[in-house]
Amino acid sequence: MTLRISVIGTGYLGATHAACMAEMGYEVIGLDIDKTKLDALAAGILPFHEPGLPELLRKHVASGRLRFTDSYAEVAAGADIHFITVGTPQRADSQSADMSYVDGAVDSLLEHINGDALIVGKSTVPVGTARRLSEKIAQGAKAGSSIALAWNPEFLREGFAVQDTLRPDRLVYGLDNGRGLELLREVYAPVLALDTPEVVTDLETSELVKVAANAFLATKISFINAFAEVTETVGGDIKVLADAIGYDKRIGRRFLNAGVGFGGGCLPKDIRALQARVSELGLSQTMGFLAEVDQINLRRRDRVVSLASHMLGNELADKQVSVLGVTFKPNSDDVRDSPALDIAVRLYNEGAEVSVYDPEGNANAAGRFPRLNYVDSYTEAAKNADLVLVLTEWDEFRELQPADLASVVSQRKLIDGRNVLDRPEWREQGWSITGPGEYFELGNMAPATTAIPVQS
Ligand code: UGA
Repeated sequence: MTLRISVIGTGYLGATHAACMAEMGYEVIGLDIDKTKLDALAAGILPFHEPGLPELLRKHVASGRLRFTDSYAEVAAGADIHFITVGTPQRADSQSADMSYVDGAVDSLLEHINGDALIVGKSTVPVGTARRLSEKIAQGAKAGSSIALAWNPEFLREGFAVQDTLRPDRLVYGLDNGRGLELLREVYAPVLALDTPEVVTDLETSELVKVAANAFLATKISFINAFAEVTETVGGDIKVLADAIGYDKRIGRRFLNAGVGFGGGCLPKDIRALQARVSELGLSQTMGFLAEVDQINLRRRDRVVSLASHMLGNELADKQVSVLGVTFKPNSDDVRDSPALDIAVRLYNEGAEVSVYDPEGNANAAGRFPRLNYVDSYTEAAKNADLVLVLTEWDEFRELQPADLASVVSQRKLIDGRNVLDRPEWREQGWSITGPGEYFELGNMAPATTAIPVQS
């Protein structure tokens, strides 16, 4: 019999998971409380940008394998495995994660499930959540129904969500007394057939694996950005430094790109929630380094704003500034906690006229900060600019040549916020250009060609 699966919460993670489960051949119902989102999904329209996902969505809405509802009764009757993929955003009043959506989903399932079922949590949660929910389920399940809980964290990256779901680096199952293993193996049989490593563990470890992975990635980025602060002061080449340490297989080159720092809906909130959780556990110092990771990351934005100001003679008021890229990374329309958007807004708040162009992010950014001037091309954004800032490394911007902008800008000044442009080439064409990790004495336009000795 075909496995019947429900996916509770059809945001980024849920919509991807639901479409990929349908692609694996299962009968899938996606549930959300947002009617507008459901109508869009049911019509095969994805409310966010993710390469490859609209095609999968349309294919399986059309095949009938994927449908959407807002009814828990329908989900409880129509599926035997329920994946919980709702959000756990940062709470407004603290650094902790808001667990109300996860708890709400479990409560609603408990109200409606008659018979046997497996609930599988995928949301990123503070350690201890699954154990608490497991007790809640044991107490709240209806008489005669047996409901098991497992935790199956998700490691998908925006921009690669389909690939990361269908061909993940690993599968992790956190189990309560081994319950649910057989069903999970059945669900993931097509993935396991690709020799995907499988980690079978307890609930707590599975919750920690997810936050540990994101904390490690955030730390890696802030590590190289901390060295960028050093080379910015003393001279040196941050890319060469990253390449050289990256050749060491124990370190690895990936996630060592210095730039404007990390953002998005995951890394920033996850490192904060982890600190909050371990503090609750009485380990207030244990994750203290993550506060530094956060601070280093936020200082990147200050640096770019200071650079911009100095490149414009310490006066941003009434300067025409062009921001290329506002999403938190390329191939996404997500502007949550985006360093690029934050920098654009700060420049605006300092009095600059800010024109923004992003291949996919304009609409979301305009929803948050309507006062910036959003335009449809980089040439339009750069028109009469006193300064251009490349803040998200879309291919379109990586491929920029000095001549593409030279005739439209007012001054040939550029901040290469993601270290993707060939700076010597731009300089040859008469541009003042700098970026993260480069020695740049604030107020002095000429980048150092040799390292400045450290004062002892
Ligand atoms: C991240 C993790 O990479 C996923 O494994 C995880 O599943 C996901 O969070 C999640 O928890 O849901 P994502 O938020 O899509 O995925 O973004 P990343 O690709 O990790 O990039 C995060 C940020 O770091 C971006 O702003 C990116 O520009 C920045 N970054 C990345 C750097 O500044 N330097 C680098 O070298 C790499």
